[in-house]
Amino acid sequence: MHKTIALRLAIAALLSGAAALTAGAHADTPRPGLLSSGDYAGGPLGSEQQPARVIPGNGSVYQVGKWPTYTAELAAGPGRDTVLGNCSMCHSVTYITMQPPLPAATWDAEVHKMIKTFGAPIQDAQAKEIITYLQTHYTPQTRKE
Ligand code: HEC
Repeated sequence: MHKTIALRLAIAALLSGAAALTAGAHADTPRPGLLSSGDYAGGPLGSEQQPARVIPGNGSVYQVGKWPTYTAELAAGPGRDTVLGNCSMCHSVTYITMQPPLPAATWDAEVHKMIKTFGAPIQDAQAKEIITYLQTHYTPQTRKE
C-alpha cells in the first residue's frame, strides 16, 4: 500500500473514532440545570387535543364545580341601588367589598377619585348618597361582614 494512502486511512479512522466518542459523550454527560432530556413526541402536527370530559361516578372523591363568576353581595340598606347603578359601570362592586374596612373620609375621597380621576358620570346628589351608604356599611366601625 502506498504510504500516503495508509496515513490518510489511519487519520480517517482516528477522526471517526473521535466523532463516535464525542457523540456518546454528548448523549450521556449531564448538563447543569437539565434534569432529563429527550425528544418531543412527534404527535399529529396541526391539531390541538384535550382529554375527553370526565364524568364523575359514584366513587368520585371530589367534583369540580361550575366556573365561579363571583360578584359580592352589597349590604342591604338605603343607597344600595344607587351604588349598584353607578359603581358597576367600569368594574364590579366587588371592588368595594374587597377593600379592607376604610375610614369614612377615605370613602369620600374614593368616590371623588372615581368621578374626578376616572371620569365616572355621577351627579352630586347621587355621589352624596353613595358616600353615605359606604360610610354606613364599610368603615372599621360599621362593617359587619
Ligand atoms: C368611569 C369608570 C369607573 C366608575 C363609574 C367607578 N370606578 Fe372605581 N375604579 C375605576 C378605575 C379605573 C379603578 C382603578 C383601576 C383598577 O385598579 O382596576 C377603580 C378602582 C376602584 C377601587 C379600588 C381602589 C382604587 O382606588 O383603585 C374602588 C374601591 C372603587 N373603584 C370604587 C368605586 C365606587 C364606590 C364607585 C361608584 C361611586 C366606582 N368605583 C365607580 C373606574 C371607575
